[in-house]
Order: sequence, then structure tokens, then C-alpha cells
Amino acid sequence: MSDTFKEGLEDVVVSTSDICFIDGRQGRLLYRGYDVDDLVRQSSFEEVVYLLWHGSLPSRKDLDAHVKTLSSTATRKLSPKLVGMLKLLPKKTPPMEVVRTGVSALSAFDPDAADNSREATVRKALRLTAQLPTLVAAWERLRRGKAPVAPNPRLNLAGNFLYMLSGKKPSDLAAKTFDVALILHADHEFNASTFAARVTAATLSDLHSAIVSGIGALKGPLHGGANEQVMRMVDEIGTPAKAEAWIRKALADKARVMGFGHRVYRVEDPRAKHLRRLASELGQQTGRTHYVEILNTVAKVVSEEKKIFPNVDLYSGAAYACMGIPTDQFTPIFAMSRVVGWAAHVLEQHAHNRLIRPRAEYTGPQRQTYVPTDRR
Ligand SMILES: CC(C)(COP(=O)(O)OP(=O)(O)OC[C@H]1O[C@@H](n2cnc3c(N)ncnc32)[C@H](O)[C@@H]1OP(=O)(O)O)[C@@H](O)C(=O)NCCC(=O)NCCS
Repeated sequence: MSDTFKEGLEDVVVSTSDICFIDGRQGRLLYRGYDVDDLVRQSSFEEVVYLLWHGSLPSRKDLDAHVKTLSSTATRKLSPKLVGMLKLLPKKTPPMEVVRTGVSALSAFDPDAADNSREATVRKALRLTAQLPTLVAAWERLRRGKAPVAPNPRLNLAGNFLYMLSGKKPSDLAAKTFDVALILHADHEFNASTFAARVTAATLSDLHSAIVSGIGALKGPLHGGANEQVMRMVDEIGTPAKAEAWIRKALADKARVMGFGHRVYRVEDPRAKHLRRLASELGQQTGRTHYVEILNTVAKVVSEEKKIFPNVDLYSGAAYACMGIPTDQFTPIFAMSRVVGWAAHVLEQHAHNRLIRPRAEYTGPQRQTYVPTDRR
């Protein structure tokens, strides 16, 4: 066995992949060769879903058919039995735990659950991508003592999610911002949750199981959970005038500042600028400019003092908060988008599968002599 290893698998290449390319020095991110900056400007989340699963941009006809299936009530709706299960959960259950439980339960209602063929996995991925927003919105309504809102097939995934949360059609800017956020979170190479999903898929387990693994990994504050921690920081800081002193003290106390730093990027995460711009526009539209003002001051100080730069999680929460979305729903929203990347990676893993089973360098005791219980 090799006597060298990389803690946290840093820079270790574990497989080839055709899905996503990150240039950590230039700050570039490509999905299937397309720069996310171009996709943000010209594409839609629905088209990005197609691109990630099928490897190329769809024709107009294929895109229309794909959007129609993804938007139909039949694909989006939850079984009444599943809604009944949600009602049994304590209202204080964190939304990310509801997502983990809900996706696991959704497999019991999926007609393709045990079928691992590519065709069945794409069908399951379509259903899960369409059902997750319904699940997240339904839980938000149920925990507030309200009835879930039925999906509206005339709205795209972003607009429909915001509609199902409040029962009202969102502003064009809110719907556009949400669509861009979904595009930007859809995939990110071998991040922790995607790797977890691939490890599960590599045992020839099914899509739902792989996605549940991904959700468990995404939940942690070093990964997707960071967006919630950023908003808690903003709330604690309170006003832009207090931001500089607060962050200087946090750095002096050697605190880890959420929304900064990355295992791969050495410059600002290319996704952050889009979310900063949109969160700022939404702040102006909704009179909540202080979120971005606080974050900009924090970013200036952290970048100057630590040479650590904003990642995707710094500004997303500010945009969601302007839409009136509670902080503990930010990571479930991340999952609503990343489910697409996880599914693309499960398809790729199943297409060229080998069990993922690394080794550990053993550092425990050698050759101990067993002492019977009554002589210890
Ligand atoms: C993303 C992250 C986990 C990557 O971690 P990593 O590659 O393992 O890097 P390390 O944790 O080893 O950090 C390397 C150095 O940078 C510092 N650092 C990294 N991110 C930091 C942050 N957000 N705040 C303060 N210091 C940070 C570490 O303290 C460490 O400094 P040291 O060498 O003096 O001890 C890390 O940057 C982090 O915890 N960020 C905050 C959580 C977050 O926003 N996650 C979302 C990622 S998209």
C-alpha cells in the first residue's frame, strides 16, 4: 500500500468525468463544456437539466417535450399518502431532514424504484427533480399550519416553487433570480455530496439511495449548510455600520467565516458574482439592501486580510431572504438544484461502474492480546 495519502482527498483524482469542469485558478466553471456565465445569461434551469443528463443542448422540439414532462402536474405532484407522512412529522423538524426523509419515502411510490437501467434512472431523476420543489414547499406550508398549494403547470420550476410557497405568482425578478440560482447550483464536479452519491451508486444501489447519501452530505455546514450559516451571520451583524468591526473581531478570534474559501477555487467562485448582482437588485426591489451591504463589507475585509474569497454560498441566502424564504430552507433549495447533478453523476457512474473502495493507512494498535471480561 502507498505510504502517502492526502487528508480530505485534496486534489486526488478519483475518476474521469464528462459532466463538469472547474478551473480553480481562473475561476471558471463549465457544464458539459458550456461556461455557466453563458448559461446564466442565455439558458434556463430546465435546459441545463437536459444538458447535464444528456450531454448536449436539446433541439427546440426536445426541449419543449422535456419542459412539458418536467412541468406537468403528474410529474410534480406528491402522493397524498406521502403528504400524510409529512403531516406526522413534528412541526419543528428541520426542512433539510424532511427533504432527506421525503426523498427516501418517494422511492416507495416510484414505479421504477428498483430499475437501474439508464432509461429508468432518467425517468426517476425527472420525477425527483419535479417533486423536490413540491416537497420543500409543502413542508413550509404544513409547518405553518397551512394546506400545501398544488403545482401550476404553466410556471417553470423556479416560478412554480415560489408560487407553491406563498400561493402568489412571484415577481419577474424573483422568478429570474431563482432560476439563475438553480442553474448555478446544479453541478460542481466531485464535491462532497456528489462523491457520496457516486460511492452509493457504485455499489449498484439505486438513484433514490444515492440522492439520500448526497442530501446527508450536503446538509453539513462545510458544504451546502454554509448558506444558512451566512444568513445567521448577517442577522447577528444586524446593520451595515456594524459589519466591519464584527468581521475584524471574528477574524481576530480565528473564526471560520461561512461563505468564504473553497477546496478548488483560489479566486472568487465564478457563481458568486451572479448571485451578488441579483441579490442586490432584489434588495433594491424589496427594500432590503442591507443584506448585500453587510456581505460586501464582510467580503472586502476577509478578502484583504485572509486572501480567501466568496464562494457560492455567500450571496444566495440574501437573495432568498429578499423573497421571504426562511433561512432553514436555503439548503433544501440547494438540494432542489443539485439533485440534477447528483443524477447526472449516478448515470455516469452506472455507465462505467467500478466499486469505489479506497484504503486507510492503519494507525491503530498492533497485535493486542484478548483479555477475558472478568480479568480486565
Ligand atoms: C470550503 C472549505 C471547507 C474548504 O476547506 P479546505 O480546503 O479543507 O481548507 P482548510 O479548511 O484546510 O483551510 C485552509 C486554510 O484557510 C483557512 N480558511 C479556509 N476557509 C476559511 C474560512 N471560511 N474562514 C476562515 N478561514 C478559512 C483555514 O483556517 C486554513 O488556515 P490555516 O492553514 O492557517 O489553518 C473551507 O474554506 C470552509 O470551511 N469554508 C467555510 C464553509 C463554506 O463556506 N462552505 C461552502 C463551500 S462552497
